[in-house]
Amino acid sequence: MSAWLEGRVIENRHWTPALFSLRLAGPPFAFEAGQFVKLALDLDGERVARPFSFVNAPGELPLEFYGVVVPGGPLSPRLACLQPGDSVWLSPKASGFLVLSEVPPAEDLWLLATGTGIAPFLSILRTATAWSRYARVILVHAVRRANELVYRDLIDALARRHGERLRTVAFVSREEAGGALAGRIPAAIADGRLEAAAGCLIAPERSQLMLCGNPDMVKDTTAALIARGLRKHRRRTPGQISVENFW
Ligand SMILES: Cc1cc2nc3c(=O)[nH]c(=O)nc-3n(C[C@H](O)[C@H](O)[C@H](O)COP(=O)(O)OP(=O)(O)OC[C@H]3O[C@@H](n4cnc5c(N)ncnc54)[C@H](O)[C@@H]3O)c2cc1C
Ligand SMILES: NC(=O)c1ccc[n+]([C@@H]2O[C@H](COP(=O)([O-])OP(=O)(O)OC[C@H]3O[C@@H](n4cnc5c(N)ncnc54)[C@H](OP(=O)(O)O)[C@@H]3O)[C@@H](O)[C@H]2O)c1
Repeated sequence: MSAWLEGRVIENRHWTPALFSLRLAGPPFAFEAGQFVKLALDLDGERVARPFSFVNAPGELPLEFYGVVVPGGPLSPRLACLQPGDSVWLSPKASGFLVLSEVPPAEDLWLLATGTGIAPFLSILRTATAWSRYARVILVHAVRRANELVYRDLIDALARRHGERLRTVAFVSREEAGGALAGRIPAAIADGRLEAAAGCLIAPERSQLMLCGNPDMVKDTTAALIARGLRKHRRRTPGQISVENFW
């Protein structure tokens, strides 16, 4: 791999004690919305690196990443403590296939995320491509607690800009929350609550779905969609379901 690049923290916003967004001054990156780079810190003489998805859109600065503190994790608790002026290493090349150039056109684009899995979708929603290729975009964010429904200002601004073309559905699984569905995404696909909340049907001839975050959500949601007649999208065998697991 070629040399690591240095980014400098401009801001470390804490949404909750566990959730943080890092804004970095760094070199402009060539990437497609939905891709990730590795962020790394030198810890006890070793460079510890993990993939993080861009929240900013291509061409936008500062670089922005959204993270959760995994208790006992080697890197995330240290990233959460960074202060303005601190350095972070970035791998020089962006990677990843959870990008619109890999997703066929359709009437509706569904973006289904748990937790920090919303990060790549925030970048995608900020691009012109999402709005030129799909009549509607449905952003679904599933979290444990209501205060984890982050980036409301950005999402509200997108809603003002795109009106009815952007639908948002929130899930809060571990407490009651007004305006959010209870439980999990796969069950709400199976019983029709997700489509009712979005005001939009899921069907192979009209929908493309991108799934990101918890691998169990990705697995169970894929199964719920397959039960509805959709299938995984592959270049050689086109379908409707594109996925990225965060672990
Ligand atoms: C393609 C890709 C993109 C990613 N993008 C992001 C991102 O934008 N933001 C982000 O916070 N993380 C992202 N991750 C996860 C990230 O790379 C790290 O795993 C995470 O920051 C924890 O790092 P760690 O070293 O503290 O613990 P690790 O040793 O990496 O993870 C320990 C355990 O923590 C849990 N875990 C890891 N990541 C998460 C997470 N994001 N949410 C909930 N539980 C988790 C899993 O159970 C995992 O086994 C991404 C991972 C992949 C593969
Ligand atoms: N989120 C925080 O602010 C916070 C705070 C402290 C520590 N942490 C740590 O961060 C890590 C993960 O936290 P997280 O809350 O971001 O991610 P998460 O555990 O993936 O939970 C996010 C959402 O995904 C749902 N989910 C889990 N499995 C699913 C499945 N099979 N199908 C569909 N949905 C599923 C969860 O529902 P359920 O609630 O039903 O599982 C929850 O609504 C853990 O290590 C945790 O200890 C997080």
